[in-house]
Amino acid sequence: PSLRPEMRYRPDLEKFTFQMLQMYQSLIPPEEEERKRRQFLSHLDQLVAREWPGARLFLFGSCANAFGVCNSDIDVCLSINDDQLSKADLVLKMAAILRSDNMQNVQALTHARVPIVKFTESTTGISCDICVNNMLAVVNSKLLHDYSQIDVRLRQLAFLVKHWAKRRQVNETYRGTLSSYAYVLMCIHFLQQRKPAILPCLQDMRPTYRVTVGNIECAYYDQIETLQSFGANNKETLGELLTSFFEYWAFRHDYTRAVISVRTGGYLSKDEKEWTRRIGNERHLICIEDPLEVAHDLGRVVDRHSIRVLRDEFHRAAKILRHDLNPCTTLFEPF
Ligand code: CTP
Ligand code: MG
Repeated sequence: PSLRPEMRYRPDLEKFTFQMLQMYQSLIPPEEEERKRRQFLSHLDQLVAREWPGARLFLFGSCANAFGVCNSDIDVCLSINDDQLSKADLVLKMAAILRSDNMQNVQALTHARVPIVKFTESTTGISCDICVNNMLAVVNSKLLHDYSQIDVRLRQLAFLVKHWAKRRQVNETYRGTLSSYAYVLMCIHFLQQRKPAILPCLQDMRPTYRVTVGNIECAYYDQIETLQSFGANNKETLGELLTSFFEYWAFRHDYTRAVISVRTGGYLSKDEKEWTRRIGNERHLICIEDPLEVAHDLGRVVDRHSIRVLRDEFHRAAKILRHDLNPCTTLFEPF
């Protein structure tokens, strides 16, 4: 079989793939962690039910979307009908409940874009963030989870990309780099673009799942069992995919004009999204459309300085994957 151009550099690709698969395995949370987490959640359920019988807790983020590595924080959404209290008030009340239950380091962040309460459970050391009525995050976590069940290469690729981003300190939205959520979308988009494609575009298929959240209609095909062999005609290995992923973001992506869009399974232009000008603090230097909140560019946190940092890191990774004799170590070297 003919190798893609970027693979010509690596005679030891098979060994590299093997090492990357080992690293992926080592990042998967052990069963024991799942068990502790379930226990913690049922305790939290009881606390909430005592105070608000009509409320429900939903998991989202990395422990619901299949992209959680060991020791991830738990993201929880409190879903509640309460016309009297604002989100900030509900967060404060939740904080009081958690304090009286002896949870540690309880902090209510009421002024954040999404108000949350953060805390740690002392016995297990589990850290948790609770937000209020943020059902879009619950739905987008299901979307990511459904994609993860189609082809295992997505989960493998995304684990390694997230691990790389954390080690290289480019997974810090408060410093202008990208969220884990954005990196996973970059991986899904990348696998939708392979020829032959490794992932389909679920939002472009006949919807079997529909919910409306606020004024946003979420609809997509979620009968994933029927898509188990979708990517089978593509034989690319993890080593090849990781290499091509960084090649793409280092050398091929059109940062001037293109928007990546998991929702459409392809590219849109900045012009058609009207993402051509800076508005306030939101710039569009790398454009990643949110699949549900389509007016959101997940790259909006990236500024003049951090786009340089990001692109330099993509270059560094691509160069290591071309030339380095021991890429497994060098690629993930702490910044
Ligand atoms: N989220 C979102 N919009 C964003 C960022 C995050 O809707 N701009 C939601 C998504 O549902 C995402 C969740 O918040 O799954 C958590 O985001 P993030 O911390 O970036 O991802 P995790 O998967 O939890 O990653 P990590 O393992 O780094 O905690
Ligand atoms: Mg998280």
